Amino acid sequence: MAFKQLVFSGVQPTGNLHLGNYLGAIKRFVELQDRYDCIYCVVDLHAITVWQEPTELPKTIREVAAAFIACGIDPKRHIVFNQSQVAEHAELAWVFNCVARLGWLNRMTQFKEKAGKDRENASVGLYAYPTLMAADILVYRATHVPVGEDQKQHLELSRDVAQKFNNDFGDSIRMHGFGDAFFPLPEPLITGEATRVMSLRDGTKKMSKSDASDQSRINLTDDADAIAQKVKRAKTDPEPLPSEEKGLAARPEADNLVGIFAALAGTTRAGVLKDFGNAQFSTFKAALTELAVEKLSPIAAEMRRLQADPAAIDAILADGSARARTIAGETMKAVKDIVGFVRA
Ligand code: TYM
Repeated sequence: MAFKQLVFSGVQPTGNLHLGNYLGAIKRFVELQDRYDCIYCVVDLHAITVWQEPTELPKTIREVAAAFIACGIDPKRHIVFNQSQVAEHAELAWVFNCVARLGWLNRMTQFKEKAGKDRENASVGLYAYPTLMAADILVYRATHVPVGEDQKQHLELSRDVAQKFNNDFGDSIRMHGFGDAFFPLPEPLITGEATRVMSLRDGTKKMSKSDASDQSRINLTDDADAIAQKVKRAKTDPEPLPSEEKGLAARPEADNLVGIFAALAGTTRAGVLKDFGNAQFSTFKAALTELAVEKLSPIAAEMRRLQADPAAIDAILADGSARARTIAGETMKAVKDIVGFVRA
């Protein structure tokens, strides 16, 4: 069966939105708007799988919404909302908890990393996180999901959940007139030069919101001075830049900075090395700082402007949530029929 093409993606409101979130995800959300109908979600239900201070959470939810809009997402043409306002996400996640297998969740590397050694003390929500993520996507029957490299395994699980639901309930799906498959198998869109932006302090570690060192990441809210300092201090090696891409292979820090430059400039690593091959890092870092400030400063300024009016952000989220609820409600009605629940 052909499904209507639809993009869905989400970002957790857990503070410190950084260059990885921007280049790996939000910048690409913006680019997809002209080709697809898009739904972009502030995934607050996911955020509380680890402790969030109740006085801080509303601010971080509004911060992500402000970042979406400041980066260029149009909340009128598309849908921007926060997950907790659409109860169907949690409702479908429960059905999916009964479809997904323990063995599938046990393989999730992100849970292993996040829970660490203290597994017994991790929340049940953190463990079940991927089934909620599958529900986020499939409650809209979305077909395309732009994400960074780190979400690939979760996307594969979403596809497995969709496939197993379609198989397990195949007869009922056909009986209710939905053809052979009710859910699409969502396609991950992991493309471009910055699908995995690494820490500025260690080119083998992912740039992350939760890294204790603020020097490891460029935050979307950093000012020009902070960006300049962080780029200047970014770890490098003693060699000048190579003139060809294959010269980056065993040089994770050089590869990362060149990849960041390429993504910010809208070019490729090879294109960057055409201009900067054989350059010293001091020269390259000065150019990278200038480019990063040029691209990020207007976003930070717009985020500040938007966040000064929380009521306006809340109105956008309420409007987006109402529109999302309409689509999600239709899906849930069908799912209830397919599963065999009695409904009004
Ligand atoms: P989150 O909030 O950790 O990250 C948001 C997006 O940013 C990408 N990303 C990166 N990309 C490149 N380099 C990095 N260093 C980097 N760090 C983060 C992530 O891949 C992601 O695309 N589970 C998701 C949120 C989510 C979701 C969904 C996504 C919940 N439901 C449904 C898609 C569809 C997460 O924790 O993203």
